[in-house]
Amino acid sequence: MSVIQVESLTKYYKNLKALDNVSFSLEEGQILSLIGPNGSGKTTLTKIISGFSQANSGEIKIFGKSVDDFKKVKDKIGLVSQENNLDQDINVLENLIIHSELCGLNAKIAKKRSLALLQKFGLDKYKHEDIRNLSGGTKRKIMLVRALLTNPKLLILDEPTIGLDPSIRRQFWDIIINLKSQNVSTIFTTHYMEEANFLADKIAFINKGKLILSGKPQELIKNVLESFVFEIKGKISTDNYKSYVYEDKTFIFTPSKELLLSKLKLFGIEPSAIRETTLDDLFLYLTGEKI
Ligand SMILES: Nc1ncnc2c1ncn2[C@@H]1O[C@H](COP(=O)(O)OP(=O)(O)OP(=O)(O)O)[C@@H](O)[C@H]1O
Ligand SMILES: [Mg+2]
Repeated sequence: MSVIQVESLTKYYKNLKALDNVSFSLEEGQILSLIGPNGSGKTTLTKIISGFSQANSGEIKIFGKSVDDFKKVKDKIGLVSQENNLDQDINVLENLIIHSELCGLNAKIAKKRSLALLQKFGLDKYKHEDIRNLSGGTKRKIMLVRALLTNPKLLILDEPTIGLDPSIRRQFWDIIINLKSQNVSTIFTTHYMEEANFLADKIAFINKGKLILSGKPQELIKNVLESFVFEIKGKISTDNYKSYVYEDKTFIFTPSKELLLSKLKLFGIEPSAIRETTLDDLFLYLTGEKI
């Protein structure tokens, strides 16, 4: 069964169309990564599907049922927002307990669950620490713990690993994979393509409010682009080849290295690199400058 089904969501901020007819669905235990340039609508989408903002039109079904009131599904969804919204003036444990109580847990269970999760994620030592004294990475972890307090079946994480060092980022990945093994579904946004590639069963590309492409990471690359990419200094015209320009380099895609090499030789052009196509290339191809 689909954990979430989104149909034709459209959202305006005054005259700005932040989301344009976005539809997707996610099955139990699946991980979906939303990727797209700054301002493409990822946060807007995560806010709407977690009940913190309203679309102008469209429908959201959670566990097969239309959501008319997010309060009814609040405990099924765990959200980590892009901005830190922990209460800075109280300590970690107080933050967790207050959140649990707002989600309807009684005070005793709220405290027990908060302590158990802090222990599980090695954060026990911070329980009496005020939020403002914590490092950015620890704050992100506490936000994740807070999202898990109600044992949600769907996690929505808006750039959960932004600014984290590689080892803490890995810890986040492990947590998400572990939750997947317990059938928890996750939707996360990221600007790190290797993270999307590593974690996601499905990637959805958003550009200017439109979901322009979705599918399995490797299949998306194969369906849209060729297997190899040539990097060439300067901006050159590429005739029938798919290509993009980035930082004064032209990137040309080809299924056959030999053929393109011999063509370029005719024009006296030497590629500075030849490599396999990656998700970064797909991102830049879809959103970047073309010739
Ligand atoms: N509350 C708001 N009022 C008006 N405009 C908004 C509001 N929130 C977002 N926007 C605009 O809507 C568009 C989508 O913003 P959104 O934050 O969803 O993008 P994003 O993909 O999350 O970007 P980023 O990668 O930078 O986090 C942007 O043009 C943004 O300026
Ligand atoms: Mg955002």
